[in-house]
Amino acid sequence: MSDILLQIDGKEVSATEGMTLLSAARTAGISIPTLCHHEKLEPFGGCRLCIVEVEAGGWTKLVVSCVYPVEENLIVRTRSEKVDRIRKSILELLLAHAPDAFELQDLAKEYGADKNRFEKDASFCIHCGLCVRYCAEVKKKNAIGFIDRGIRKEISFIPEIAARECNDCKECFPLCPTSYLQAVFVLTEGLAFSSPSSGSATEE
Ligand code: SF4
Ligand code: FES
Repeated sequence: MSDILLQIDGKEVSATEGMTLLSAARTAGISIPTLCHHEKLEPFGGCRLCIVEVEAGGWTKLVVSCVYPVEENLIVRTRSEKVDRIRKSILELLLAHAPDAFELQDLAKEYGADKNRFEKDASFCIHCGLCVRYCAEVKKKNAIGFIDRGIRKEISFIPEIAARECNDCKECFPLCPTSYLQAVFVLTEGLAFSSPSSGSATEE
């Protein structure tokens, strides 16, 4: 695979074809914040927090770095006034849903985001999809999924699968940026796993 040379934050970076800007930056030790990205999962591009500014042939645009492929001679800025302003707004919106999430609070400090800017609508899940995608793509169990759409969208464990698979796994728990996942699991466990038909799946 041929090398692609680009510049990220003023640093010459060598990447391989097909790499995303996010992985090229991280390989070069340059950090970009993410909320829905995981190296074991297919690129998703859901949270938009990883946006960066790119410049090529005299034009500048904003792109989602976890899905945007590297290009020869591209000039990338991972921080700029515009990038920071957008990240701040994204964080403020997410904080309205999950005001107590530590990961969001840390990012809010960095970007000067105000957790009270938008009216609170504490749904706790920020729809990053990490739990759902990890269970499907890595574990191949599909024990958790999204139900409903748009603002009503929420995650739900599939009790029949979860009762059988989740107690010995729980690998998705630490991925959740808001800890909401664990709360849903405990609720599902209490409501749905305890029937006699679920056997010993809930025993520790
Ligand atoms: S429960 Fe957590 S990991 Fe799952 S989609 Fe919501 S925020 Fe993401
Ligand atoms: S990390 Fe790129 S869109 Fe979420």
